[in-house]
Amino acid sequence: NFFNEKYRPQFHFTPIKNWMNDPNGMVYFQGEYHLFYQHHPESTVWGPMHWGHAVSSDMVHWEHLPIALFPDENGYIFSGSIVVDTWDSSGFFDGGEGLVAIFTHAGEHPDTKTPRQVQSLAYSTDKGRTWTKYEGNPVLEDTSIADFRDPKVIWYEKESKWIMVLSAGNHVRFYSSSDMKSWRFESSFGEKEGSHLGVWECPDLFQLPIEGGHRWVLIVSIGDDPAYTEGSRTQYFIGDFDGKMFTNENDSEKVLWLDFGRDNYAGVTWSNVPKEDGRRLFIGWMSNWKYANQVPTETWRSAMTLPRSLTLNSTREGIRLVQTPVQEISALRKPITSIQRTITLIPGENILKDIKTKTFELKACFKIKEAAVFGIKVHQSKEEETIIGYDSDRSVLYVDRRRSGDKTFHNEFSCVQEMEVFIEDQFALQIFVDTSSVEVFANDGKHVLTSLIFPREESNGLELFLDHGAVDLKSLDLFDYQSIWA
Ligand code: FRU
Repeated sequence: NFFNEKYRPQFHFTPIKNWMNDPNGMVYFQGEYHLFYQHHPESTVWGPMHWGHAVSSDMVHWEHLPIALFPDENGYIFSGSIVVDTWDSSGFFDGGEGLVAIFTHAGEHPDTKTPRQVQSLAYSTDKGRTWTKYEGNPVLEDTSIADFRDPKVIWYEKESKWIMVLSAGNHVRFYSSSDMKSWRFESSFGEKEGSHLGVWECPDLFQLPIEGGHRWVLIVSIGDDPAYTEGSRTQYFIGDFDGKMFTNENDSEKVLWLDFGRDNYAGVTWSNVPKEDGRRLFIGWMSNWKYANQVPTETWRSAMTLPRSLTLNSTREGIRLVQTPVQEISALRKPITSIQRTITLIPGENILKDIKTKTFELKACFKIKEAAVFGIKVHQSKEEETIIGYDSDRSVLYVDRRRSGDKTFHNEFSCVQEMEVFIEDQFALQIFVDTSSVEVFANDGKHVLTSLIFPREESNGLELFLDHGAVDLKSLDLFDYQSIWA
C-alpha cells in the first residue's frame, strides 16, 4: 500500500513524508534528472529547510534519495540551483568535473543577530549523492537587503562566465563570476516592471528560439500577500539579456502570468539538458502559500506539477510562453476510449457516463457552432464535481472548484479560476487529472491552468456537458494513468 493514502497523487512527485515546497537545483547529469526540493523532514508544516532529493531517468518515475543539504551555523537551506562545472572553474574538482549547488543560507548575522540571507556553495563529486559545503561560505551577501535569495546560476556562453540571477525584495539582481566564489554586481531589474502584488522570489533566466532568432525569458515568482485572494503566483518577462542587463520588450505595466491557476509556484527549469535534446524543462510547486500549510493531506504536504517543456510562440500581442507536458509522461497511458468522429453535444446527455477514473489524461477537440457553455466535470459524484468549462461568449476557460471536495481548511480555497482563451477554428483541450489536482492545457499549451482539489475517493465520475449553445465534439482520447509508485 505504498503511496496509497487519501489524496496521494499517483503520477506527480511527492516526498515520502512531511513538508515540501519549492523545487530546487534541478540538473540533468550523466543520465539522471535530479530534483531537489525545500523540505522539512520532521513536520508536515514549513520549518527548518533542508534540500530533499530524488532522481529519475524520465522525469516521471522518481527514486527518493537521502537528504542532500542540512541546515548549519549559517542557517536554513533555502532555494537555489545546481550547475555542472565541466572545466573545474570552481577548483572543487581537482581538474575534473562535478556539481556545484548555489543556494541561500537563511540565518542570522553572527554579530548583530539580525536575520540575513546570504548565498553559499556546496559541491558533489559523486553524482549528487553527497555534498560538501564550501568552507568560504557565504560567497555573496548584501545586508542592506532583507529578502535576498533563490540564486539561479547559468553559464553565459557568449562571454564564458557564470551569471547569477537572484531575487532582492521588489526586483532581481544579476551578478557575474568566473569561479562562483566571487561575484560581481552587474545590474538590477524590475522595481517598476510587472506585478508587485507580493515579494519577488525564485527567478530563472534562459534563452529560447523563436522566428529564426531567440529571446531571453525571465521567470519571477511573487509571494502571497494577504490582500490578494490569488495568493502566490508566477510571472515572466520576455526580452533580451546581454550578459549584464535584462531589457523587457513589453510595456513595464504588462503582466504575463505563467499559469492562470492558483497552484503552480516557484517553478524553475533544469540546467545542463543536453543540446541534442534541446528542451527547456520546467517543474513547479503545486501549491500556494495562501493555504499550503493547511491542505488536508496527512502524512506529507505538497506535490510538484507535471514536468513541462517550455517554448515560445508569436501572438498578435507579442511573444508568449507555451507549456507542454513532457512526452515521457505518455508512457503511463492506458487507453480507455477513443472517439474519432463528430458527435453533436446534447444538454443532459453525458457520453462518458459509464467511465470511472480519478487519474487520467483527456484530450479533446471541439468545434463551437453557436455561442456555448460546455466542458468536462471530473472527480464527479452527486455531492462533488470540479468543472473545467468554456464560456464562448466571454472567451473564458474556467476551473470551478467550489464543489470540488474538502475546502474547509481555508476560506479562500473555494473559487473559480479563469483565463482568456480565444478560439480560431477548433478548441483543443488537454487535461491531466490526478487524485488531488487538475492541469489544463488549452490550445496546445498556449494557456495553462493548474489547480489543487481534494475530492472524496468515491467521486470518480466524468461528465462531458453542454449547458447551452451548439458544440460538436470532433475527437476525444481518454487514458487511464498508472501509478508511478507501483
Ligand atoms: C518561495 C520561497 C523562497 C525561499 C523558500 C523558503 O516559495 O519563499 O523564496 O527560498 O521558499 O522555503
